[in-house]
Order: sequence, then structure tokens, then C-alpha cells
Amino acid sequence: MPNDLPSIESLNQQFGSESVKFRVGEGGLIQCRVQNQFASVEFYLQGAHVTHYQPLDAAPVLWMSNVSKYAPGQAIRGGIPICWPWFGAHDENPDWPQHGFARTQCWKVRAVLETDSSTEVLLGLTESPSTLELLNQSFDARYRISVGKQLTVELAVTNTGQAPLEKIGCALHSYFSISQIETLKLDGLDGKSYLDKLDQKVKTQAGPVIVDQEIDRIYRETSSPITISDQGAGRQLRVSGTGSHSTVVWNPWVNKSKRMADFPDHGYQNMICVETANAGADVRTIPPSETHAIAQTIELV
Ligand code: BG6
Repeated sequence: MPNDLPSIESLNQQFGSESVKFRVGEGGLIQCRVQNQFASVEFYLQGAHVTHYQPLDAAPVLWMSNVSKYAPGQAIRGGIPICWPWFGAHDENPDWPQHGFARTQCWKVRAVLETDSSTEVLLGLTESPSTLELLNQSFDARYRISVGKQLTVELAVTNTGQAPLEKIGCALHSYFSISQIETLKLDGLDGKSYLDKLDQKVKTQAGPVIVDQEIDRIYRETSSPITISDQGAGRQLRVSGTGSHSTVVWNPWVNKSKRMADFPDHGYQNMICVETANAGADVRTIPPSETHAIAQTIELV
């Protein structure tokens, strides 16, 4: 672990409260637990990675791999990884880390704000020698985790350099826990065109999304909320985004699950990724001194 990490004691002293507590989590990584009158949420400073969200009196909303790695510099599997500053493989350097570096960097706690309606934790990431190797520009990224009646995560990035930040991709890559993939239905994408990443063809969605094989799609021009109907569990989740016109839907199905060491072989039966994104043609340019923000709100209907 890098030795400039804050101690658990200093984090609790500076930011801890009745509802916000820092502790040592899996793999010795620093974890924060927020527990208020609305929900419990856990996240790691590595990747600003939310790994747990459970509204009061409800079952957990996010899916986590029970064979995820928790190690410095390794992506955690499940929860809400932040893909940034690119989504998927890097355009020009396919050997660079898939989905960028935000999900493996250690973020700093900047503030905790508690009101009657929410507990918010604000995290920050700026350029460092390791990020400059992959993005030779300076930036100030803020990630807000807001735990209220809903869970909102928001990534706001300001370009603190002199040149534009170009072709910036992102995904708030949420893994949702579902009872069984056969009874899942996604509404809100009907009529949208999408890039099918499996054969690189552009297609059009007809009706709700049903998953009965591997699916890896970037839906375009999305704006409306997406409803995840888990008909097996009799539960609906609404996923809304801002600062995004693209939505990624992913389930690895049988073979890809087996190929991923940190993904249980049968895990695909109980998860679906619905990702609020800036992917495909929806990548963004952030001029110097300007900010682009993207957010996802998750609520039980
Ligand atoms: C999805 C991509 O967002 O993330 C998939 O569309 C990819 O192509 C998946 O397989 C998982 O990526 P990773 O890097 O976490 O294994």
C-alpha cells in the first residue's frame, strides 16, 4: 500500500461521526461505512468504489463478486466502479488499463456533509506521477456519494490545465443484484439505437431489454430513467442519469464469467450492469477551467 495513505484514526478524527466510520476493509484497504436513517453504504478509498448499498428495510441493491480481488492497484469486481478518463479499451493504447485509472487510484476524503435529508461524502483525485503516465494533463476530480432517500453518485471533473481534456470517457459502472436473470426486464431503452460491442453492429432496441445471452451494449442518446424490474423478487429500481447521453448494459453470461478470475462462474445469473456513461460518441471535451459532471441516482420504486 502506498505509504502516504492517511491512518484510520486520523480519518475518523477529521471526518468520522455517528453515521460515518472509517475502518480497515477487505485486503487491508481503507473502507468507509455510512449508516444513517435511510440506508447503509460502504465504499473504499481505492477507486472511490461503492461496494454496498442497502436502503433501510430492503435487500442490498448492488451485486458484489464473492471472489473479487481487494488489493492495491487492482480493480474491485462489483458495486460501482468509476471508469474514467476512458471507457473500455484506450483508443490509441489498447494495452493501457481497461476503463482508465480512476477505479484503481486511491482517492482522498475532502469533506463530509450531514443534513436531515442526506449524508454526503466528498472524495477527490488529482493528477499524480502515475496518472500523468496515462493522461499527461492536470485535473481535479470530485466524487460525491450522497446517501439519502436515494443513492446518488456524482463525478465532477475540472480541467485545471492549459489544454483541453479531449475525448474523456466515463461510466458509473453499477452492478445491480437481481434474483435471477431470466425474470429481469429493463424498461426505458425502447427505440434507442445501440452499438452491440459483441459484433460491432449498430442495432435498435425493440421493447424492454431481456437478457438470455451475453450482452454488451452502448445505448445512444439515452435520457429517460431506466427501470430495472426484478420480477422474481417483485422489486423495481429506477436508475437516472445526468451529464450522460449513453447507457451501457452488460452481462457476461456463461463463457465470459468463466474467463474472469474475479467473477464467480454462476454470478451472471444474479447481476446486471446498467451504467450511466459518456461512451462511444458521447465522450466529452473539457476546456481549461471548465467542469463536466456526470451523476447516477438509484432508487427503489
Ligand atoms: C463493461 C464493458 O462496461 O465492463 C464490457 O462494456 C466489459 O466490455 C465489462 O467486459 C467489465 O470490464 P472489466 O474491465 O471490469 O472486466
